[in-house]
Amino acid sequence: MESVPRYHANGAAAPGHDTPGAPAPGHSAGTGAAPGSAGELFDAVMRYSAELFKGNREILRESYVPSRLPHREHQIRQVAEVLAPAIKGDLPSNLLIYGKIGTGKTAVVAQVRSDIPRRSDVANRVTFVSVNCANVDTPYSLLQTIGNSFATKETDRIPTGWSLDRVQAAMREAIDRRGGTTILVLDEIDRLVARSGDGVLYTLSQLNTELAKARICLVGISNDLQFTNRLDARVKSRLNEEKIVFPPYDAPQLEDILKDRAAEVFREGVLDPGVIQRCAAYAALENGDARRALALLRLSAEMAERDRAKRITPDHVVKAKGRLEQDIIVECCRTLPPHCKVLLYAILQLYERRRESLQTGDVYTAYVRLTQRLGLPPLHARSISNYLSELESLGLIRATIVSRGRGGRTREIAVDVPIPETIPALQDDPLLAALARPRGANQTVLTNFDNPNRTGPAS
Ligand SMILES: Nc1ncnc2c1ncn2[C@@H]1O[C@H](COP(=O)(O)OP(=O)(O)OP(=O)(O)O)[C@@H](O)[C@H]1O
Ligand SMILES: [Mg+2]
Repeated sequence: MESVPRYHANGAAAPGHDTPGAPAPGHSAGTGAAPGSAGELFDAVMRYSAELFKGNREILRESYVPSRLPHREHQIRQVAEVLAPAIKGDLPSNLLIYGKIGTGKTAVVAQVRSDIPRRSDVANRVTFVSVNCANVDTPYSLLQTIGNSFATKETDRIPTGWSLDRVQAAMREAIDRRGGTTILVLDEIDRLVARSGDGVLYTLSQLNTELAKARICLVGISNDLQFTNRLDARVKSRLNEEKIVFPPYDAPQLEDILKDRAAEVFREGVLDPGVIQRCAAYAALENGDARRALALLRLSAEMAERDRAKRITPDHVVKAKGRLEQDIIVECCRTLPPHCKVLLYAILQLYERRRESLQTGDVYTAYVRLTQRLGLPPLHARSISNYLSELESLGLIRATIVSRGRGGRTREIAVDVPIPETIPALQDDPLLAALARPRGANQTVLTNFDNPNRTGPAS
């Protein structure tokens, strides 16, 4: 195993081990791969993984549904108590579930759903529909998705193109045809309200007055404790009939959660004492987020594999934490609005060049220049000032107010992200992709036949 080429963080073999005569694609990566080939590297990775893992590593991923949820027994019971009337054919109260990210809200509701008795009389009375409003965030797509969840054949599905009223009527008919009680879970409901307001929640919350045979009960899940402030008073009081708040996990609770998963996935003895405590302690400091704790454990194992280590040590957790923080920054950049990305790009470029705090005026000039290169109309300085505040609140830049004597006060801007990783993340946006290969000043500009107006270099 020691003869295996070391591989870089990006997973590529070290150049010194490139073998020009390496086997052609199609060569079996199984036993007996040629020395120095990708096949040999893959073999080695397989062997090392096998040393650390006994179970499928997917067990450490978010999508895995664990068989039990330690420290959420009380919340499972609370949710079940609210929804229990549906099992007997009565209408449960609407329910709002709050809690910070990674506190087990989605997992608990999924657990309650799977615990509903599978007897046919119960199944006839209760239908569970779950929609994640992070993906389905317009009234049209929401009503269509709900309606389509009842479709048993293609012709029952609501096609795109119908008017909103017609979609709503079709959804109502589908619920009525099904009969019994529909428990509609709107996960990340705050995203729906932020994107589309509360009109569709008003529609859904008064649906019981329009249904002939069936009833509907709404369960909203949110990690934004303030989101009901944005609701119309009637919608708020209808949704808020029952409310359950999930507290963040503390470090010992996160340890229990991680121990359960670790026992399922790792071979005995590969986890150094202290690994689980460290993952749990880091995650407890950051909002008590179980998702973060699991990601740290998974990445720590990956770091150990990269080191070809036989055990996962606290040092791997430290490395994993650094990687995770970087990933979070990069992910955060990807979700910025387009002009905010252009602004951040301008800041990063200027800061990289100057290596000192930047004046807001210079930042604005650099931003305008970039928009011109990209063929975009620049936003007004006031909007850019708001975006600067947003970038600061996200922790991507630091802005310090400095007094300039009689010249008044200005903001000086410094960068708080790793520039080499952040710039490619911004260039991933097709809008900024053109910046990935800056044109040399004396480079010939090829004619753009599709759009003759855009043939010349932007000023
Ligand atoms: N008590 C627990 N035991 C085992 N795993 C848990 C527990 N709580 C959460 N998890 C796991 O942590 C991850 C995050 O949990 P979940 O998605 O339920 O959080 P959430 O509160 O819905 O977060 P968000 O607000 O971001 O949607 C999931 O992989 C889930 O399986
Ligand atoms: Mg969730």
